[in-house]
Amino acid sequence: MTLTPTADQDAVIDEIFETLATLAPEIRASLPGRRVKSDETNPSGEVRLEADAYADELLEEALGAIDGVGIYASEEQADPIDVGEGDISVALDPLDGSSNIQPNSPMGTIIAVYEGDLPGQGSSLLASGFVLFGPILTMTVARDGQVYEANVGSGEIDIINDAVTLPAEPTVYGMGGRVPDWTAGFAAFIDEVEDEYKLRYGGSMVADVNQVLTYGGIFSYPALQSAPNGKLRLQFEGIPMAYIVECAGGHSSDGTQSILDVEATEFHQRVPVHLGNEALIGQVESTLAAHD
Ligand code: F6P
Repeated sequence: MTLTPTADQDAVIDEIFETLATLAPEIRASLPGRRVKSDETNPSGEVRLEADAYADELLEEALGAIDGVGIYASEEQADPIDVGEGDISVALDPLDGSSNIQPNSPMGTIIAVYEGDLPGQGSSLLASGFVLFGPILTMTVARDGQVYEANVGSGEIDIINDAVTLPAEPTVYGMGGRVPDWTAGFAAFIDEVEDEYKLRYGGSMVADVNQVLTYGGIFSYPALQSAPNGKLRLQFEGIPMAYIVECAGGHSSDGTQSILDVEATEFHQRVPVHLGNEALIGQVESTLAAHD
């Protein structure tokens, strides 16, 4: 499903996550002065904050300078950038959920490490991770089928949990998209789960998925009537977050199959996303199949 890195690739991946940990406090420190909107939009048509552009530049410069990283790609840029020799490509959402900066709510940075050219897919993924800019500055990394969570407040990787695993009993659910825009199948699924679980949704994928990793449950950004592929991007959000949840013992789905099996045809391709405990992912797939 995903690739096993060679020893050389492992060394590059170590450096990628060390670099991300070093930059995380710097990015956090830059946020108070960069809460304002710029007059630009990103390739997905979203208005950029000055913080989005700053984080993207900082990450491109630092990750692009690592020996072995050949391509830097970002949700903030139209095309991947050739940054040197090497068979490793990094694809980033520099500040995922950055609209949460204005109300001072959590958001994150997501990274996918692929082998070879982009767009990459699950079968070319080597590792993935995210930084969560919450009350505590943490980095969660999935490698070799395992997930760790580290405190990176000092710029160093200080591991606080070396085996992140989804709790067996789900507790929370959270989902994006306007309710009138949901499909009949997704509305039926939410009807089923709302009696049993607690709604928790903050509007930043990283923070919302981290709640699922912490408490068990499901995060969905579903296919919508107006957007059959939903909102989230396969390269920068769907694949890396699916890998983390699957390595933590959960499942992922685009509605019918694991997000790690979705064919990547376009760089800024969108994908419906469901991440969480196995039983809930099975339930969302069967309810969607029965109604849509
Ligand atoms: O893709 C950016 C993002 O902010 C995600 O982090 C989040 O899950 C989603 O968009 C929130 O979208 P909405 O504002 O439609 O709930």
